[in-house]
Amino acid sequence: MTAAAPAALTTEQLGVLARAVSRAPSVHNSQPWQLLVRGTEVDLLERREVRLRRHDPAGRDRTLSCGAALTNLELAVRALGRDCHTGLRSGGDVVATVTIGRPRATSTRDYLLYQAIGRRRSHRHRFIHNRVPTAAHRALVAAGETTGVHVVVPGRLDKLAELLGFAARVLRDDRAYQRELAVWTAHTHGWAAAGDGIAGDALGPEPVPFAGIVRPGTPIPDDAVLADRLAAENLLIFCTGTDTRLDHLAAGAALQRVWLTAASKELAGSVITQPLHLTGLRARLVSELALPGAPQAIFRFGYAAVPAAPSPRLPLGELFPPR
Ligand SMILES: Cc1cc2nc3c(=O)[nH]c(=O)nc-3n(C[C@H](O)[C@H](O)[C@H](O)COP(=O)(O)O)c2cc1C
Repeated sequence: MTAAAPAALTTEQLGVLARAVSRAPSVHNSQPWQLLVRGTEVDLLERREVRLRRHDPAGRDRTLSCGAALTNLELAVRALGRDCHTGLRSGGDVVATVTIGRPRATSTRDYLLYQAIGRRRSHRHRFIHNRVPTAAHRALVAAGETTGVHVVVPGRLDKLAELLGFAARVLRDDRAYQRELAVWTAHTHGWAAAGDGIAGDALGPEPVPFAGIVRPGTPIPDDAVLADRLAAENLLIFCTGTDTRLDHLAAGAALQRVWLTAASKELAGSVITQPLHLTGLRARLVSELALPGAPQAIFRFGYAAVPAAPSPRLPLGELFPPR
């Protein structure tokens, strides 16, 4: 007797997957993904028409964002009590296919991470203190250590401050860069609020490194002050041995697992990739911080005084391409 094939998902269950994907973090909140459902196979597509020519000319952050969405997609499938298997694609619009399998009890860990999807948000403020218990810190690092991805606690904060300060000054004075950023940070205000882009109040008037994104008026402290501020944070750098699309996907997926692990422990965080796009900066980070591979993202975390506001999302219907 042959076993029956796994059942396709219902419309309500597809809604659960769509909501989880939609809440993933993405570069400039561009939400560069779609879902194509074929029976028990769900393709995660990268919307390559989403282009940030100045911030992300190679589309690396766009693929990292899809990696983060993939983590949410897998967690949602498991939270529905179904097994799944993921195949990553090295080229084309489809970045991954998640094949939904038979019923399987959701593990406590997966359920806690799934529940954290709705609570995770970018906290671009200083933290009330940086004393994160050792066990929680270790759990975050372990959640990100996956095949090909290394999670590094940076030493040499003086060097990191020097490089981040340098990048911040260059990007703050780059008018073409700032024009592009203005488009992604201006249009979510007021009655005409859009479903994408970063809302102005999500950025605030904070100085580097809390600001997250450097705009024309962002205060940039001198290197010694910046080094002290970095020392008062918990930082992780996500590195990959090579620098291919599969690495970017894996790094984005790992980043989101770490971020959700943080959220599940009532820790807040935000990600910084902006400086990593400045020509030559990643190579200098690798040599001056003795990193084990290409840096893909910096994650800062700690305890928040007040929760950050949720950011907008595109309507769920836009997640599904017209057939
Ligand atoms: C690949 C990637 C790169 C990002 N780069 C930055 C960054 O450099 N600075 C920053 O403040 N936020 C950055 N973010 C956070 C996004 O702006 C944020 O996820 C998005 O605005 C949605 O808001 P939320 O995280 O509160 O849901 C990045 C997110 C991703 C996934």
